Amino acid sequence: MDYDKKELIREALKARTFAYAPYSQFLVGAALLAKDASVSSGCNIENAAYGPTNCAERTAFFQAISKGKREFRAIAIVGGKNNEMEDTFPCGVCRQVMQEFCDPEEFEIIVAKSEEEFQVFTLAALLPHGFTLKKE
Ligand code: THU
Repeated sequence: MDYDKKELIREALKARTFAYAPYSQFLVGAALLAKDASVSSGCNIENAAYGPTNCAERTAFFQAISKGKREFRAIAIVGGKNNEMEDTFPCGVCRQVMQEFCDPEEFEIIVAKSEEEFQVFTLAALLPHGFTLKKE
């Protein structure tokens, strides 16, 4: 399944405008492409107790899963303070959530600073030997 990486990055940038990050000021947006071509996006949502903070990637995944999506092709991630974008790699917890629903050799993670400047990794490259249980 081919897809438009720039379009997915644009959706992630849009989602980032809704980030709630009063503690870190690090605003993150993610856009997750399902195999049915639908896009679910998410932002980071912080909390005064810190621990309940949810990353943009998991917000996007949980939104998609709760709409009935189960198969995914790619996710675009953008993050940074103010308007200075930095390469924002998914944290270990988010990588493990991806592992639950995605084929590690096929699922693509687009780490982007802009529509023009981005890198693409497979999940297998970012989470080698990831843990799964065989599904019945
Ligand atoms: N964060 C994300 O949303 N995604 C990432 O890939 C890295 C970190 C958030 C969590 C927290 O709200 C802020 O960025 C600073 O760590």
